[in-house]
Amino acid sequence: MTFPGAEPQQNFPDACDVEIFTRQFDDGLSLAAVFGNGNPIEIEIGSGKGRFIISTSRDNPGINYIGIERAYKFFSLMKERAQEARPGNVRLLRTEADYFIPAYVPPGSVQAFHIYFPDPWPKTKHRRRRIVNPDFFDILRDRLVPGGCINLATDFAEYFKVMLKTGRGCAGLVELYSRTIDPEGIDPESGATHYERKYLMHGRTIYRAAYKKAGVQG
Ligand SMILES: C[S@@+](CC[C@H](N)C(=O)[O-])C[C@H]1O[C@@H](n2cnc3c(N)ncnc32)[C@H](O)[C@@H]1O
Repeated sequence: MTFPGAEPQQNFPDACDVEIFTRQFDDGLSLAAVFGNGNPIEIEIGSGKGRFIISTSRDNPGINYIGIERAYKFFSLMKERAQEARPGNVRLLRTEADYFIPAYVPPGSVQAFHIYFPDPWPKTKHRRRRIVNPDFFDILRDRLVPGGCINLATDFAEYFKVMLKTGRGCAGLVELYSRTIDPEGIDPESGATHYERKYLMHGRTIYRAAYKKAGVQG
């Protein structure tokens, strides 16, 4: 699927720049124009050091990836790695995903969201900070194209229950799968993200689920 309005814009000077800025969107940059092509767009929320986005972008050159990370330290490491890997289909944004997505991502524009090992906020008084919550899921669903997916992973069993409740309770989404992964015998190097690799090394159980927006891509 391709998106209209994908022509490179004059206020995005170098199509090879890995880092993009919210202010460029304020100046009229459209999401499709960020890459200068109409390929499908996937967004990773909380990309950390970038292990997933860098490797998946290499494996899927026909998909455009935006990695959102708020922490300066992790963002800088990810940016360095992306600049070394030089994938033309990755852009990185240092901001709060729960601010950027509602404000700047148009409805029906994203093929997939990836949320891997989000901060679990285990203390009861902090749980309202969790990124997986019903209001944010409604926003993600609206930003997905029909048939688009939300992919989730965590090592935190209680948060996984919340993820399942949130996904199952979100109108217009269907559950693709819900899996409990025994780390026994799995090579940690196969971990898709930095945290997955770390938790597999520590022998922790991993939980994964995915939700699909009803409908078919046009
Ligand atoms: C536990 S780490 C997981 C990193 C990576 N996904 C992985 O699996 O290796 C969670 C990351 O999400 C980032 N993060 C948390 N809330 C965020 C938000 N609202 N917007 C963007 N990044 C966020 C944190 O800074 C942190 O780097």
